Amino acid sequence: MDKIVLKGGKKLKGEVEISGAKNSALPIMAAALLAEEESVLENVPNLSDIMTMIRLLHSLGAKAHYEGGILAVKPGKNLNPVAPYKLVSTMRASVCVLGPLLGRVGRAEVSLPGGCVIGPRPIDLHLKGLRSLGAQIDIQHGYVVAKSKRKLRGNDIFLGGGFGSSVLATGNVMMAATLAEGRTYIQNAACEPEVVDLAQFLKKMGARIQGEGSPRIEIEGVKRLRGTTHSVIPDRIEAGTYMVAAAMTGGDVFIKKCMPEHQNALMDRLSQSGVRIERNHSGLRLRRNGGLKPVDVTTLPYPGFPTDLQAQMMALMSVTPGISVITEKIYPDRFMHVAELNRMGSQIFLEGNSAIVHGVKRLSGAPVTASDLRASGALILAGLVAEGTTEVRRVYHLDRGYEHIEEKLSRLGAEIRREKE
Ligand code: EPZ
Repeated sequence: MDKIVLKGGKKLKGEVEISGAKNSALPIMAAALLAEEESVLENVPNLSDIMTMIRLLHSLGAKAHYEGGILAVKPGKNLNPVAPYKLVSTMRASVCVLGPLLGRVGRAEVSLPGGCVIGPRPIDLHLKGLRSLGAQIDIQHGYVVAKSKRKLRGNDIFLGGGFGSSVLATGNVMMAATLAEGRTYIQNAACEPEVVDLAQFLKKMGARIQGEGSPRIEIEGVKRLRGTTHSVIPDRIEAGTYMVAAAMTGGDVFIKKCMPEHQNALMDRLSQSGVRIERNHSGLRLRRNGGLKPVDVTTLPYPGFPTDLQAQMMALMSVTPGISVITEKIYPDRFMHVAELNRMGSQIFLEGNSAIVHGVKRLSGAPVTASDLRASGALILAGLVAEGTTEVRRVYHLDRGYEHIEEKLSRLGAEIRREKE
């Protein structure tokens, strides 16, 4: 297994180019199943989650070929609508084949994903939405077994849960509804840019969708969808991680090929904290001359502060003098990184779903273990400013969501390398 070894203390300087968004690409790859013909997806990042989804598409009977950021998916006439435990258990996003399979084949068997380190992750909203469209759904032997005897039928569906809207449930229902009879209204739909990107792709396939990006999406079912070409939006979480890296190291970094309009919540917190941010049509420049001030952060559905940047923001606040409170409202247990950051000298105390962060002068490099994708991002950030050497283990988490991270950080001047353990 690989580990990342970093030596802290370098100010990051230069330009970094943001890759395509993993969380956009994954549901879009599933959506390609809605047509028989080939779809071509551009700006698809080379990440292990993407490779898992390609394996899943193959096992469903689709052809998929990936090269140089371009993915061609050709589902063909006959799909085998079974998503096995082996694949779903390695990547929860596999659940987004449920909607397209039901919509196109009228049948789907998808292994239940189960919990994960960031907490329990139920799929009740996905099932509620698909049932409202007329699917019959049972749980059998650890699988969601979904069938619809006749065509799915549009309906008015409220998709809110105890923690607000759901990104992938909105995607699943939207995908299934594109081929249903009549109109579907999704109320309390997720407004995340990844939902909008998915809707854009579906519209290019011939779907009739309105209101994406708002809490009410309207879908008018059509008879069939066709293959198309689409370029995936830039990854706002990857961009956000480099923005925090610039702030943390006191550097001067231009974040190229990002969409500044997707970063409002993070830009607000960083500028409140004392980071200078300039935006232009091609990206964002972040600089810091003086010290930072602590800011409180509460994660919320988009356009609120993303849970996927909570750990990285905590790494920043852990070296910001003063006290900040970071409250997690999407995944109340998503704090596995706290113990590892504290091993590097952070002073972070957990109180329910809030972390009280007492900023320290400096962190000290240590061997640490990544627990999930964004936690590994936070540990890399901590390592960039820690005294001495930090070794981040279980790098496979990092490889699920950060394309070429060592190369990108090295180019910005960080001392970072990958080693075999
Ligand atoms: C997506 O997961 C992302 N994954 C996650 O990114 C991200 O953290 C999350 O959205 C929130 O922004 C992908 O897009 C592949 P949700 P998703 O359904 O859609 C609860 C990363 O690091 N809920 O929006 O599965 C749920 O427990 C990952 O890249 C239900 O109660 O998340 C949570 O509290 C991790 N019932 C809240 O809703 C359901 O049926 C939001 O989750 C579904 C969700």
